Amino acid sequence: MANWVTGKVTDITNWTDSLFSLKVHAPIEKFTAGQFAKLGLEIEGVRIQRAYSYVNSPDDNNLEFYLVTVPEGKLSPKLAALKTGDELLLTEQAAGFFVLDEIPDCQTLWMLSTGTGIGPYLSILQQGKNLERFENLVLVHAARWGNDLSYLPIMQNLEEKFQGKLRIQAVVSREKWPNSLMGRIPALIENGKLEASVGLPMQAENSHIMLCGNPQMVRDTQQLLKEQRGMAKHLRRKPGHITSEQYW
Ligand SMILES: Cc1cc2nc3c(=O)[nH]c(=O)nc-3n(C[C@H](O)[C@H](O)[C@H](O)COP(=O)(O)OP(=O)(O)OC[C@H]3O[C@@H](n4cnc5c(N)ncnc54)[C@H](O)[C@@H]3O)c2cc1C
Ligand SMILES: NC(=O)c1ccc[n+]([C@@H]2O[C@H](COP(=O)([O-])OP(=O)(O)OC[C@H]3O[C@@H](n4cnc5c(N)ncnc54)[C@H](OP(=O)(O)O)[C@@H]3O)[C@@H](O)[C@H]2O)c1
Repeated sequence: MANWVTGKVTDITNWTDSLFSLKVHAPIEKFTAGQFAKLGLEIEGVRIQRAYSYVNSPDDNNLEFYLVTVPEGKLSPKLAALKTGDELLLTEQAAGFFVLDEIPDCQTLWMLSTGTGIGPYLSILQQGKNLERFENLVLVHAARWGNDLSYLPIMQNLEEKFQGKLRIQAVVSREKWPNSLMGRIPALIENGKLEASVGLPMQAENSHIMLCGNPQMVRDTQQLLKEQRGMAKHLRRKPGHITSEQYW
């Protein structure tokens, strides 16, 4: 049984009508970058709980979560309605295996995300530890609209901080947007545009691919990487090239 602690909302950023970030103070146990907590609210006497990835570095006590309001969703609209100073419940211990310890050595680590799925990568990169064994890091954030690229300034700061080791790439699917590729991740891998834009090859011999966010994106990309690039899902007992986290 999970232990629950009470947290206090210290800051809210409303990026768009449907995307927002919560900052929370809570007495949680230390988590590993890439993991998630469960957030909960008592709604009509019942605790409704869902998983949300930590965005902050584990070394930062300002806990941060990046959310989208799912229309008709049970919890996300209630979390979107929280105000600074409100309380919510969090699991004391984080969970999940979408962490660097599970990733084998490789030349280029590709961190591909859609929507709020960028969260775990921001936690990993903001902490910036245990990345020496990768020569290159690539962070890709795919969103419907240019204005949904909420963390682009932080991505740009990270790119500067990593001094050439990290390359960032925005992808926007529903409009043309400056400095972004237009389309969807699997199609942009298939037609070579993602690698051309980033300037690195995505091959089984040199790459490991992390996928996070929309489950259909995860499935479609896995399928493509298997068929076109000869890659396989990474398992502890059978090393491969793809590690994924699906948000629903
Ligand atoms: C490991 C893990 C980590 C997650 N991390 C995050 C996170 O950092 N940020 C975040 O916003 N969500 C995250 N989610 C999704 C989150 O747990 C909830 O599913 C989401 O907030 C919807 O909850 P709800 O009660 O509002 O909707 P529900 O009433 O539970 O309705 C669920 C339906 O909404 C749709 N849905 C669920 N999540 C999404 C989504 N993110 N985008 C689009 N449609 C969705 C699906 O169709 C699903 O069947 C994560 C999920 C998992 C499993
Ligand atoms: N983003 C918004 O402005 C907005 C506004 C109101 C409500 N919402 C709600 O919020 C929820 C999540 O929206 P979201 O925009 O964060 O997430 P999303 O629907 O998962 O879209 C994020 C990105 O993933 C892409 N994608 C979707 N399916 C894919 C696939 N099979 N392969 C590759 N890429 C794929 C989308 O491309 P496509 O554009 O081609 O689908 C988009 O670029 C939805 O329930 C939505 O109704 C979103």
